[in-house]
Amino acid sequence: MALLLPGGIALLAGLDAALLLLGLPAPLTTDRLPQVHGGLLVLGFVGTVIALERSVALRRPWGHLAPGGLGLGALLVLSPAPLALGQGVLVAGTLALLGVYAALWQRQASAWLALQVLGAVLAAGSALLWWSGAPVATALPWFAGFLVLTIAGERLELARVGMLGDGVERGVLLLGVGLFAAVVATTLWPPVAHPVLGAALLGLVGTLLVHDVARRTIRSTGLPRYMAWCLLAGYGWLLVAGGTWLLLGSVTAGPAYDAVVHAVFLGFTLSMIMAHAPVILPAVLTRPLPYRPVLYVPVALLHASLLLRIAVGDLHGQAWALQVGGALNIAAVLLFLLLAVWSSVRGVPAAANRKAARTERTEGTDGTESAAPHHEPEVVR
Ligand code: HEM
Repeated sequence: MALLLPGGIALLAGLDAALLLLGLPAPLTTDRLPQVHGGLLVLGFVGTVIALERSVALRRPWGHLAPGGLGLGALLVLSPAPLALGQGVLVAGTLALLGVYAALWQRQASAWLALQVLGAVLAAGSALLWWSGAPVATALPWFAGFLVLTIAGERLELARVGMLGDGVERGVLLLGVGLFAAVVATTLWPPVAHPVLGAALLGLVGTLLVHDVARRTIRSTGLPRYMAWCLLAGYGWLLVAGGTWLLLGSVTAGPAYDAVVHAVFLGFTLSMIMAHAPVILPAVLTRPLPYRPVLYVPVALLHASLLLRIAVGDLHGQAWALQVGGALNIAAVLLFLLLAVWSSVRGVPAAANRKAARTERTEGTDGTESAAPHHEPEVVR
């Protein structure tokens, strides 16, 4: 919990910065906040959560240097200390994350772990670029590659895609390597590499869409169905980002930039976090976070408000839609946070307890990732 707290602070500060970027009143105003919004949310918030989950899977005390470094870096970025200090500590946090992956790799090398390692290399690269003073737009494909490859690796791991055959795993890994190479190339040859990045992203998402268990579990009920909605909507937003890069090439400012950035980070990443929170957070925090149907409300609000922001605000140049959509994006994230805390405090509903007991007595789990009472990565076992 202590390691997660700085990530939570980074999230709240990043949302405050989002209000400032939208030109809306915000509880906290500093000159630095709008400038650090992206780095804070990608490395300080999502990076800390990912590093914490991986270090818990590793079960070695030194592994906590990764979430600790990223969380501390985020707090320093928010403090009046020189910005370069916080950015440097974020670099150290990403290097510690690579150390965690090296140790996990020695335990069990696999395609899904290889994807996550590639993601972590991009995280370190993005932190280095940001530290060196490169514009955030230059680091952006690296930020995106970090999260896309890490989450794609998690999907393979959680859904036990191994059951679908080595060919699928090899295909996804190959596309992941292509995406990794395209991200690196965007820094060297931006005009050529961005359309290639778009094509690689479309290929990767297309493959995940075809093989992800979500296409089946969307017809089930309860948590598996909820997760499937979040996952499929998230993949949909990645198609938007991939398509934009493919058709428009390098976008570094303006409506297309806002659209591509938030299709990846809000539409895909936040939707994936909302999907996996009830499965992954209990294993990390050893506290229940039971699924309740009310969790659909923030998910629906997130996607509807992002649609308003991108389709009406960015695509049709309506400033009001950008502001209203952006403010509702923030409301969706905060609502999810509140509901998650509330659901965790209330504990597992009695009906779910009864059902779990019945299932245990009769047949055991149904074999999908979401039926697991909590997430226990292969690496741990
Ligand atoms: C929750 C609601 C959010 C709102 C309202 C919001 C708003 C904004 C705005 C208005 C911009 C400036 C866009 C431009 O320059 O055209 C921006 C940039 C950006 N946002 Fe967000 N954002 C949100 C969430 C997030 C999240 C969750 C992430 C990452 C996980 C993120 C990452 C970024 C990045 C990387 C940039 C580019 C920054 C730069 O170029 O300096 N945003 N955001």
